[in-house]
Amino acid sequence: MQPDAYNQDGLISVHNHEFMQEPRFTAAYQRGVAAAGQDYHWHWRVHIGLWAAQTAVRLPGDFVECGVNRGFLSSSIMQRLDWDALGRQFYLLDTFRGVDPRYLSDDDRREGVVEKNAGWIEQGFYATESDSVRRNFAEWRNVTIVEGAIPETLSRVTAARIAFLHIDMNCAAPEVAALEYFWPRLQVGAPVLLDDYAFHGYRHQKVAMDALAERLGVAIASLPTGQGLLIRT
Ligand SMILES: C[S@@+](CC[C@H](N)C(=O)[O-])C[C@H]1O[C@@H](n2cnc3c(N)ncnc32)[C@H](O)[C@@H]1O
Repeated sequence: MQPDAYNQDGLISVHNHEFMQEPRFTAAYQRGVAAAGQDYHWHWRVHIGLWAAQTAVRLPGDFVECGVNRGFLSSSIMQRLDWDALGRQFYLLDTFRGVDPRYLSDDDRREGVVEKNAGWIEQGFYATESDSVRRNFAEWRNVTIVEGAIPETLSRVTAARIAFLHIDMNCAAPEVAALEYFWPRLQVGAPVLLDDYAFHGYRHQKVAMDALAERLGVAIASLPTGQGLLIRT
């Protein structure tokens, strides 16, 4: 392997990853680290997230993230886009207590979602309250934190138009419900980023998303980062 290969977060690549040294990227990434209180070493995934956000900002509409945790990616995006200058809302939806077992399927359980969730809470990776998350986002005015379990909270997103959607809940049914719910309000050309789509250990989510994509008549790109990417058509 070449000494400067990208080798982290389940991805080994010798391809160009100069974005990691680009000052606007590093500033955004470091804001994410500050939000999370740790570095997840997922630069390429954040690079894709920032690209999607920069693409979305050309369209009218608000931004939505389903599965926020401590706000790594969304804080990076808001830092990168100088969020409050845009005059849009960023809706941030999470239980802030990990997965809601009522919405786990047998497939989720078979793939160990319950155990992974318990481990992440134990390790402090998952937030278990929203106060610290709210403090992180207090830097920006145009943020709406929606606390509670998806799908119950989806109707609290009052945006008429949505330009960017990030789905990252590590369980299938709430993710499918979120994409299905927001689809009519997503602007044509809007990127939808699925954090766990091709991730090792989450195949049932891919199967569920593929079935929904088929119904919606759209194709999902499986990225080597483990993310899935689709464009609202
Ligand atoms: C991997 S984390 C999200 C990471 C985040 N996107 C980031 O940039 O750091 C997954 C989050 O999904 C949330 N979650 C899981 N099931 C949920 C549900 N049914 N409704 C709302 N949030 C949920 C968890 O509480 C957890 O914070």
